[in-house]
Amino acid sequence: MHSPHDDISEILFTEEQIHARVQELGAQIAADHPEGDMLVVGVLRGAVIFMADLVRAIDMPLEMDFVVASSYGLGATTSGVVEIHKDVTADVEGRHVLVVEDILDSGLTLHNVVEHLRMRNPASVEIAALLVKNVERRVDIECSYSGFECPDGFIVGYGLDYAQRYRNLPYLGILKKEIYQ
Ligand code: IMP
Ligand code: MG
Repeated sequence: MHSPHDDISEILFTEEQIHARVQELGAQIAADHPEGDMLVVGVLRGAVIFMADLVRAIDMPLEMDFVVASSYGLGATTSGVVEIHKDVTADVEGRHVLVVEDILDSGLTLHNVVEHLRMRNPASVEIAALLVKNVERRVDIECSYSGFECPDGFIVGYGLDYAQRYRNLPYLGILKKEIYQ
């Protein structure tokens, strides 16, 4: 059977590199939040694998919740329209919120998720993104915790998809151009 590994042109970050970086991020987040009891909000579906590893690296009491937001549809180009399809159910008011996302690209998704959460009067909203793409943002956005900078290719694996595939690759890789062009 066709393996998803065959569609990758280059491995950007190995399982080991990702693991080491996620441990660092978790330790840093815990050190920055001695008060504990953060509300960690993952953006489904791309953040799910990063979030699962990250929360286990944060040695503090915390609550997990999720939103579903989409800007990409099924393809590889952003539409500019961000929809929140599923909201958090946790209490946000007065809480320190950490939004966890797979990748910061144009910034539109995170900008919209953060603004959406800010309407609930949290004590603070910060962002943890596994990848920050080396491109010009379409909105100004501050990312408190970022895993790696990455080039402007189409990246899949470790939660990131192309047309809902490749999320289960254990590493981060660049998708071959012929797959999406
Ligand atoms: P933004 O709204 O343009 O910042 O894009 C963020 C969203 O687009 C992420 O949540 C991803 O789902 C998706 N995305 C952006 N770049 C990539 C990529 O290289 N691979 C996979 N998904 C991507
Ligand atoms: Mg996503």
